[in-house]
Amino acid sequence: MPPSINLSQPINEKTDVLDTSILDFGMDKRLINRRQIWAANRFWMEMDNLKTKRYGSKGRHHWHILLALMRTFKFCLQITGCYERGVRNAKDICLRELNLTFPNLPKSFNGFSILHLSDLHLDGTEGLAQTIVSTIGDREVDLCVLTGDYRTKLHGLNKHIMIELRYLVDNIKSRHGFLGILGNHDDCHMVNPMERMGIKMLINSNCLIEKEGERIQFIGTDDVHYYYTDQALHCLEQAEKEFSIALVHSPELFDLAATMGVDLYLCGHTHAGQVCLPGGVPLIKHLNRGREYYRGQWNYGEMQGVTSAGVGTSGIPVRFNTQGEILIHYLRGQ
Ligand SMILES: [Fe+2]
Repeated sequence: MPPSINLSQPINEKTDVLDTSILDFGMDKRLINRRQIWAANRFWMEMDNLKTKRYGSKGRHHWHILLALMRTFKFCLQITGCYERGVRNAKDICLRELNLTFPNLPKSFNGFSILHLSDLHLDGTEGLAQTIVSTIGDREVDLCVLTGDYRTKLHGLNKHIMIELRYLVDNIKSRHGFLGILGNHDDCHMVNPMERMGIKMLINSNCLIEKEGERIQFIGTDDVHYYYTDQALHCLEQAEKEFSIALVHSPELFDLAATMGVDLYLCGHTHAGQVCLPGGVPLIKHLNRGREYYRGQWNYGEMQGVTSAGVGTSGIPVRFNTQGEILIHYLRGQ
């Protein structure tokens, strides 16, 4: 059984230790830890700029091309006088409340509220953490989930991001605390400092929240857009045992999650296009799969999903014809 949530504690070493009964290395079991194996693999992929996808394809990032395109686009916005308007749009964040109804929701979780923050990119927009806190105001939620992309850069130091995250943790009222996963902009060194500030990080792992003798399960994967591994699938296999909410940075596991019995899939990553044509038509969705689920509420089979438009911005700190959003999901029974 996965651990019940206790956000004052670090990761549960007992549950994160692999069952080594089939690996007769003559080693102390405590030496083999799922988190350590994941971190070693993730670090290697980050250093090598390696991008892995479902079904085994691999590639490398070509950042110099992307950076040149973004600089050109920013220059075009500046000379046409649109840049400042785009920055103002990016800072205009809304709060949306959604009611999500499930026939199989445990009764005691009727009305359970989940604050969903995605794609903060806290180094992209000045004062964003303060804007988030003032937008949420005095609301108190049952749980806050963070679905990845805390920074804009893909490499480098994280201390400035951790200061902003600490401000959010200190100023958001969440009865059951905070759950987090990593996005494709985040590196493996962010996990420990985030856990030290009280965010329970789900890295291809799960946890339970109990209430009045009933429980729901949260399953969190590592990012699957750049850093897909089968470990993400292995943890989703737990979904059939409980009412399950999957936290995945992008919607790209939608079909597998539905097959494995996930009830609700919460994600972000796309920024709803961030720069769109009038009517919200995106120029880029930044998805390999599930492109039709790039924004808003959706269904796949019996699974419900929500793809957040994100709070912050990536690349250039502008938005056109999309709006950054803070979501509060209310779980409802039938
Ligand atoms: Fe992302």
